[in-house]
Amino acid sequence: MKKKIKRIGILTAGGDCPGLNAVIRAVVKPALAMGIEVIGFKDGYSGLMYNKWKKLDGHDVSGILVQGGTILGTSNKDNPFAQPYVDSKGKLKYKDMSNEVKRTYNSLKLDALICIGGDGTMTVADKLVKKGLNIVGVPKTIDNDLVGTDMTFGFDTAMSIATDAIDRLHTTAQSHHRVMVLEVMGRYAGWIAMEAGLAGGGDIILIPEIPYKMESVCNKVKERNRKGKKFSIVVVAEGAKPKGGSVVVKEVVKDSPDPIRLGGIGNKIGHEIEKRTGIETRVTILGHIQRGGTPTPFDRILATRFGIAAMEMVRKGQFGRLVGIKQGKMSSIALSKVGGKVRTVPKNCELIKTARMLGISMGD
Ligand code: F6P
Repeated sequence: MKKKIKRIGILTAGGDCPGLNAVIRAVVKPALAMGIEVIGFKDGYSGLMYNKWKKLDGHDVSGILVQGGTILGTSNKDNPFAQPYVDSKGKLKYKDMSNEVKRTYNSLKLDALICIGGDGTMTVADKLVKKGLNIVGVPKTIDNDLVGTDMTFGFDTAMSIATDAIDRLHTTAQSHHRVMVLEVMGRYAGWIAMEAGLAGGGDIILIPEIPYKMESVCNKVKERNRKGKKFSIVVVAEGAKPKGGSVVVKEVVKDSPDPIRLGGIGNKIGHEIEKRTGIETRVTILGHIQRGGTPTPFDRILATRFGIAAMEMVRKGQFGRLVGIKQGKMSSIALSKVGGKVRTVPKNCELIKTARMLGISMGD
């Protein structure tokens, strides 16, 4: 017989993302109505390792639907299976703290844990499931690159912000007859660049999935110029790379389980365009602006649906799974099938074909 759920935990891990609070609200509200207690762990897996938590009540989730970030705090540096620490000689080392996580879970008498996060979070969640924790995952990332769901919450907001940036860059591009390059996030998948590029009427879209040739990029700029279009908009994902070349790494965060931080491809491309075409070029790197602020209505609804679906799965005892959306309907997938994989933009998808039919260059 299914065990009656009395108390659950919830955490947000990885990079922050618009809609995290909407999920928390959608878990806490029905839980409280069903007489289930909710423990909110602070700063992602860190809260579970170091026993940092707070019991969530109705007041905690009141008014948070529209708030960006996460009321619980988050971290993309903590990994219970390889937690970084500096030893007495100042050397960076890693220790397994998964038993501490299990201890916290058991001492709080949790019946289940809801983990909201991306690929890294789900990889850890799956390992914790194998240690006996009852976990349901909720997919977040502005990059939209998690497998097992057609969409993650946060993406729509990031894509809307990037589209707004393109709209604004058009003003200067047209007035000054310049090339404006916009670098957006997206390490392994180019969803933000692809969709914002289409929505904002970009002329050249460069994504990680399609290595670009500088010659093709410049040819497009020159062709537009010849036809009297004296400006061009280039939208580039931070993970885009030239054919036969590699991504531009901004920094390596040593104590992070996901240490590579990208950034700078926009400058590289902008510099080359100006040098090769002689047309004045400016570069904007959108950065964390894409992750900040209030979620779009779409993301609020998606995050809320995910939260409710996660709570339903907890109630039904469907653990070790990630909530998702497939063809508009709530779905779920085993956590073991999620970690370490990336949902990229398919090279021959309708979105890319649409862009090409419009004359947008994909840089290849
Ligand atoms: O995965 C989400 C993401 O926003 C990426 O698009 C980006 O490369 C990365 O996180 C940035 O991480 P941080 O906040 O550590 O700079």
